Amino acid sequence: MSLKVLILGVNGFIGSNLSTHILAERDWEIYGMDIGRGKIRDLLDNPRFHYVEGDININKEWIEYHIKKCDVVLPLVAIATPATYVTDPLAVFELDFEANLEIVRHCVKYKKRILFPSTSEVYGMSTDSPYDEESSNLVTGPIHKERWIYSCSKQLLDRVIYAYGSRGALPFTLFRPFNWFGPGLDNVWEPKEGSSRVITQFLSAIFHSRDITLVNGGEQKRCFLYIDDAIEALIRIIENKDGLADGRIINIGSPYNESSIKELAETMIEIVEEFSGYENIRNQTKVNVVGGKEFYGAGYQDLVSRVPLIDNAKSLLGWEPSTDLKSGLRQMIDFYVQSKSEADVL
Ligand code: UGA
Repeated sequence: MSLKVLILGVNGFIGSNLSTHILAERDWEIYGMDIGRGKIRDLLDNPRFHYVEGDININKEWIEYHIKKCDVVLPLVAIATPATYVTDPLAVFELDFEANLEIVRHCVKYKKRILFPSTSEVYGMSTDSPYDEESSNLVTGPIHKERWIYSCSKQLLDRVIYAYGSRGALPFTLFRPFNWFGPGLDNVWEPKEGSSRVITQFLSAIFHSRDITLVNGGEQKRCFLYIDDAIEALIRIIENKDGLADGRIINIGSPYNESSIKELAETMIEIVEEFSGYENIRNQTKVNVVGGKEFYGAGYQDLVSRVPLIDNAKSLLGWEPSTDLKSGLRQMIDFYVQSKSEADVL
């Protein structure tokens, strides 16, 4: 019998890309819930894709029924934009922690495998390089630096899941995305100023001839992972050959794609210039420097660099990232340029 996969937040960045790949590459059934359907329109007619519009805070019976029915559960509903951690920390706690805790408890009740999206943010400002799932300390700032409520909410759920799991009450894997990017990350054509992740923020600025903003100068670094590589790792976790991912914490990121935010801005301008109609984009795009407090608010605090150790992913999943930053950006930019021309035609 084919695997039944429950994806809550199926229309999100990870959910939509994961569903596309599963339906194309595996014979699994997907049961998915989301408040929207814009990114999964092309999948709705697939007989192995069972979508229902719903809210995890409201449609609780549907969720419990499907946790019972499915083999593996991916609760992907969460606020994951740093601007919101600072402006609405309680919403982050309520959704990312409280609402997801209920899902975790249903998985315990029905003994279902949960694959929980932890985050690179749990390492906070740890000075280790690279970050090791087993030994790195998780380091956050003072309470008034409200940015860390996301990190703490995710970390506490990691700990709750681990505690259930280590007592034999819950089969689980915690996976930790490190700055995944690609088509569908955020909407670059209808931007909410300051509210999307850095790559979509920059792309939106470039396309709309607005200024690119380097927060605190842009010397801080991130390791970016292209979504297709990320999804390949995730599918191997779902597959769970010989139970290798059971009870494990797995960083999923690319140590090979480290870039400062300043270099990222330059690389993105260079790549957009390659596209026809955008040759002069450099002259219309100014790069400005703004303080973190001005850009996000007083509750913001940042880290200098964040590199994943991927030995677990390599040894347990036989996985390694293969897309370099420039090729990933080129594919993502191509997607948005195409979607703009399609929108213009419609
Ligand atoms: C992200 C988010 O918390 C989550 O999406 C996720 O859990 C996690 O990290 C991850 O994907 O690993 P962060 O890396 O800070 O956090 O996300 P971005 O908003 O993409 O910012 C990256 C860096 O760019 C930060 O230093 C930020 O200050 C800077 N930035 C952002 C700018 O310089 N300009 C901008 O316009 C936006």
